Amino acid sequence: MGKYIVAGNWKMNKLPSETYDYVKEVVEATKGSNCEVVCCTPYVCLAPAIEAAKGTHVKIGAENLHFEDKGAYTGEVSADMLVDLGVQYVIIGHSERREYNNETDETVNLKTKKALEKGLIPIVCVGESLEQREAGITMDLIAIQIKKAFADISAEDAKKVVIAYEPIWAIGTGKTATSDQAEEVCGGIRKILADLYCEKCSLEFTIQYGGSMNPGNAAELMAKPNIDGGLIGGASLVAENFAAITKSC
Ligand code: PGA
Repeated sequence: MGKYIVAGNWKMNKLPSETYDYVKEVVEATKGSNCEVVCCTPYVCLAPAIEAAKGTHVKIGAENLHFEDKGAYTGEVSADMLVDLGVQYVIIGHSERREYNNETDETVNLKTKKALEKGLIPIVCVGESLEQREAGITMDLIAIQIKKAFADISAEDAKKVVIAYEPIWAIGTGKTATSDQAEEVCGGIRKILADLYCEKCSLEFTIQYGGSMNPGNAAELMAKPNIDGGLIGGASLVAENFAAITKSC
């Protein structure tokens, strides 16, 4: 429904010194893919990644940003800094940041608004834990995450946001949600967006699935009507695997 986007999330992997060559490899391997191809890298890898992707179809993203413009925030990176480098995408609210770095629905909202204000495309992550799934509250939880993430964001801006549905129990575990489970939640997200904005607007959002997506399951997942791409962790670290996923769109 939305534009197909496959984004790699390198997390805390790869060195700045290996980034240029690796992104060049991704550029070659993903030529002819039927989707937008994005590599989200650690801050220190962004400059060589952008250099390698310059003039190609591959876009570069960061894995986080701060919601303030500037100031006394030791160790933080602002939207302006990312834009100045040539970054185009930014992951916001990944479950690992929610778990280890005090990311909340409120900071996700502030960061999403700041990214939009500065012209970055946010990839906003939502998803439930295994306990929440087993308690039958998956959709209630996702509805809260989405509503809070999009608070005070106009329909026009909202449509620029990519949403990544990532069940926490499927991240890095090799346990993928079945395509039906993933479709059920991604379809549910589209309904929430239709209620928040409008039916027609909801069809324009890119909704990705993430969580152990690999060359073996990507085609089936992305064949579902409400899954418009993927956020890829482990499989984005090997160019051949990442490229195979981008070619499954
Ligand atoms: P995974 O990670 O593909 O390694 O499960 C996905 C993510 O966390 O974005």
